[in-house]
Amino acid sequence: MKKTIKDYELNGKKVIIRCDFNVPIENGIIKDETRLKASLKTIRYARKMGAKVILLSHLGRIKTKEDKQKYTLKPVAEKLSKLLRKKVTFINQTRGEKLETAINTMKNKDVILIENTRFEDLEDKKESNNDEMLGKYWASLGDIFINDAFGTIHRNHASNLGIATHLPSGIGFLVENEIKNLTKLIDNPKTPYTIILGGSKVADKIGVIANLINKADYILISGGMAFTFLKAAGFSIGSSLCEKDKINYCKNLLDKYESKIVLPIDIITAKDIKENTKTYERFLGEIEEDEIGLDIGPKTTEVFKQYLDDCKTIFWNGPAGYFELKPFQNGTKTLLNIIANTKAYTVIGGGDTARAAADFNYQDKISHISTGGGASLAFLEGKKLEALDIIDEK
Ligand code: 3PG
Repeated sequence: MKKTIKDYELNGKKVIIRCDFNVPIENGIIKDETRLKASLKTIRYARKMGAKVILLSHLGRIKTKEDKQKYTLKPVAEKLSKLLRKKVTFINQTRGEKLETAINTMKNKDVILIENTRFEDLEDKKESNNDEMLGKYWASLGDIFINDAFGTIHRNHASNLGIATHLPSGIGFLVENEIKNLTKLIDNPKTPYTIILGGSKVADKIGVIANLINKADYILISGGMAFTFLKAAGFSIGSSLCEKDKINYCKNLLDKYESKIVLPIDIITAKDIKENTKTYERFLGEIEEDEIGLDIGPKTTEVFKQYLDDCKTIFWNGPAGYFELKPFQNGTKTLLNIIANTKAYTVIGGGDTARAAADFNYQDKISHISTGGGASLAFLEGKKLEALDIIDEK
């Protein structure tokens, strides 16, 4: 068992908390606060216990100097101040005298947010490649390290793996909660157990299929990735997405798990991907050459409902269609409604599916929505997660 923040005496200590504040920001406005809100419990606890709280996070991917303006964490500090009802002091540096002075003059319960850790990537990708000196430097700023960035747990960064190498460490409440909930999908999940997979790429799901196919009773395939499966099953898919190099993989899977893998039977297609475009409901075999499959059809959601209704466990990763546009929302919306109304333990993983649940107001009707996209998949794939493994054991 990993140590948690509760295993440490925090009073008067400089506690570095690695959060995942990688949130969508447009013109300085935060478009989705889910990850910020999910981080509050740990930050509040650390303050309550009298810690000096030092927050770290990455935001976006920093490749050029120009990216720095777009990906500053300043708006996050402002929003966090409001959510915590306590000033979060933003330090526009990732290292240096100003940062060190600010930390050394902190009082108990103060909160500091350091600038985007990936600004360090401009120099030899120091953050993303876990530069040893950088991890050591950040560790030197604190007494205890708490990893509460589940969304980044599959990355070996200086700000998670690196710091934890040099300080007593634990996980925060967010990471603890993610592990507890996602483990229920791997260790003796209650059956019947159905997994819904969607999103654009088969390639992204191979690991999770490999690790979970023998635990789940059914895997329902939807989204853009369904067309590579449909092609493998011998159907024409028009101009829909197709990963040619994954057709054989899909064929083998369909042969081996014929009764487990459920494919769509009807598709919503269009000739362009835009609002107000003309759509067609096509059964398999009817998709025209110039049509793109952009959602599962109503007959498919009826079939999927039969697989989902009596389930005890449901895991869903990847939207059923191009839900960003109205004509292609129905599949994703209907599936959300179905799973929200089952008695099953329901988990949504993956940024896009989580966003769909938020956009269509199903957030409170799902047992657990993971704050991790790639991270939740990596966890369910059983991948080695060094940033978690390094955390001290109880
Ligand atoms: C995420 O949003 O999935 C995490 O914050 C990781 O971000 P990254 O894919 O840029 O490493």
